[in-house]
Amino acid sequence: MTHPDDTPNAPDATGAPAPADGTRVVRAGLPAPEPYEPALPGPVFAAHYHLPGDVTDAPYDYGRDANPTWTRLEAALAELESPGAPAEAVAFASGMAAITAVLMAVPGPPRPDGHQPGEHRPDGSRPGPVVLPSDGYNLVPGGLRGLLEEHGTEVRTAPTAGGAQAELLDGARLLWLESPSNPGLDVCDIRRLADAAHAAGALVAVDNTLPTPLGQRPLELGADLSVASGTKALTGHGDVLLGYAVTRDPALARRLRTWRKTAGAIPGPMEAWLAHRSLATLELRTARQAANALAVAEALRATPGVADVRHPGLPSDPAHALATRQMRAGRYGCVVAFTLPDRAAAERFLGAARLVDEATSFGGVRSTAERRGRWGGDAVPEGFVRFSAGVEDTADLVADLHEALAYALGRGSNGSRKKG
Ligand SMILES: Cc1ncc(COP(=O)(O)O)c(C=O)c1O
Repeated sequence: MTHPDDTPNAPDATGAPAPADGTRVVRAGLPAPEPYEPALPGPVFAAHYHLPGDVTDAPYDYGRDANPTWTRLEAALAELESPGAPAEAVAFASGMAAITAVLMAVPGPPRPDGHQPGEHRPDGSRPGPVVLPSDGYNLVPGGLRGLLEEHGTEVRTAPTAGGAQAELLDGARLLWLESPSNPGLDVCDIRRLADAAHAAGALVAVDNTLPTPLGQRPLELGADLSVASGTKALTGHGDVLLGYAVTRDPALARRLRTWRKTAGAIPGPMEAWLAHRSLATLELRTARQAANALAVAEALRATPGVADVRHPGLPSDPAHALATRQMRAGRYGCVVAFTLPDRAAAERFLGAARLVDEATSFGGVRSTAERRGRWGGDAVPEGFVRFSAGVEDTADLVADLHEALAYALGRGSNGSRKKG
């Protein structure tokens, strides 16, 4: 298998050879070394800053506008999402705060009549439609859809697989993609859809939560924005809520900062610092997690009674060919989806797997899994399980899974697998 770090990064803007991801992550966003200062300065806790006289060019004035801890994290995120070209990141309180900012505040490109779809227009006309995946993170086509509609935005949805969103672009201001999609793990052709959206006058945003910037770089595939929940694999320890959006367009970044300041959707300095600290291990964590996810997917596929195993890194997966074209080698994420015969079998599995915590979310260093049907928001069978591979030893994890599956499927010895 190709090691992920064998995939060369593009040279930087000066043509200098680009560092590999494992090198880049340990220094991204750090200030130049200063004698007797730490490599990553601690979190700055400040509601206000000393602010003499004219405030026009003040870098830091009030804690809802800017914070040096955010600034350093944002420099790191911009570098990781867009190593080959200047970009700006805007950090938010959570993934949903970032997604809401993009869907509410981002206009389409200017139209020939001078209006931007999405801006407040004196004639009272509505912001342009947005096109969402029907099968992505369910709070987007679910809860956020209602909010958008209440504020006058028409919402159109289509599934991720097959690029069906391309059919809905007429008059749209924004195409929102999520690839691979959560929880079904379908993949869409980001470049093809971005080209179609731009031809139709819409901007393109991609939810990059699952792959992280080490697995996929939407801006290099033609997207205008890469947006993510940093709560998952980016920070990876299940102890931080955070979100971000990265764009190469300074006007879009300004708009997002204005939204963040106005809506108050700001990350805490401690969260921003923890996130930045966690980036140093991003390459190590995501490499192990992706390898574990693939091993788990292969083990599941070989187990009679387990159906519809999905993971973009599995050569037999319907999304694999497309994933290999737009994701980085060996970095297909930590999530595996599969279906057990019924709800009871899924519950037995979750109760019996000793190395797997029954929990929602994904991307953490400890493996987790849950029966997605318990939430009611995803169109999945009752026995559908979303599994997130942690960084445990691969052989231990696969052995635990085998035993839990044998118990869940009625082939195990007895109920002694039940966790305390
Ligand atoms: C793909 C995806 N995007 C966005 C979010 C929202 O992120 P957060 O929980 O940080 O608000 C989630 C949460 O599960 C997600 O799975």
